[in-house]
Amino acid sequence: MITVKNLTKHFDDKKVLDDFNVVLKEGRITTIMGTSGCGKTTFAMILLGLLQPDSGIIEGLEGKRISAVFQEDRLIEHLSAVANIKMVIDGEPDLEEIRKQLSDVELEGELIRKPVSQLSGGQKRRVAIVRAMMAKSDFICLDEPFKGLDTETKQKVMEYVKKSVEGKTVLFITHDIDERRFFEGDYIGVIPGPVCEIWPF
Ligand SMILES: Nc1ncnc2c1ncn2[C@@H]1O[C@H](COP(=O)(O)OP(=O)(O)OP(=O)(O)O)[C@@H](O)[C@H]1O
Ligand SMILES: [Mg+2]
Repeated sequence: MITVKNLTKHFDDKKVLDDFNVVLKEGRITTIMGTSGCGKTTFAMILLGLLQPDSGIIEGLEGKRISAVFQEDRLIEHLSAVANIKMVIDGEPDLEEIRKQLSDVELEGELIRKPVSQLSGGQKRRVAIVRAMMAKSDFICLDEPFKGLDTETKQKVMEYVKKSVEGKTVLFITHDIDERRFFEGDYIGVIPGPVCEIWPF
């Protein structure tokens, strides 16, 4: 269980998170929705340890391994899909398994061998997703992971992700109510902007 208590974050004089409280249950998917700019990515970045809050406590992440699909792809552009994924794998990477998981999201052949700079937006997105799924982790943060995927591909990728995260603790950020329904899990509510507060459900 990850417990977030009284989290506050300002950017200059703009208050983005105001005394924000939430519990992410162990082994469950917790979905956060909210208007653009309300602070979802800010919250995710604080959980990932990439942003410092002004105040507040986060319990339950000590010593935990975290993986993420960021809102941007954050791939190493001159490396291939396979090489990007190899970078997050401990020890000897299982190339067969990497290829299998890439093919689960419809990436195969030449596409997985050329620099990701030559891939389309949706193809890059899928590489970023497989990278997050293949990294060993106790907690996974997904910040609008399916953005930019066409309907048919998105369905396949969502099925792949659902299977991959089974039993893991996941924070899932989305604007899409159908995605939330697909992942079921615990829905902690909408963050209304500009000042965040969780509506309890
Ligand atoms: N590094 C920063 N410096 C200044 N302001 C920032 C910074 N990062 C975010 N903000 C501001 O904080 C607010 C929340 O941003 P955030 O990216 O968390 O929103 P979001 O809920 O993820 O939105 P979206 O749905 O569009 O991704 C926005 O008003 C944004 O302009
Ligand atoms: Mg965001």
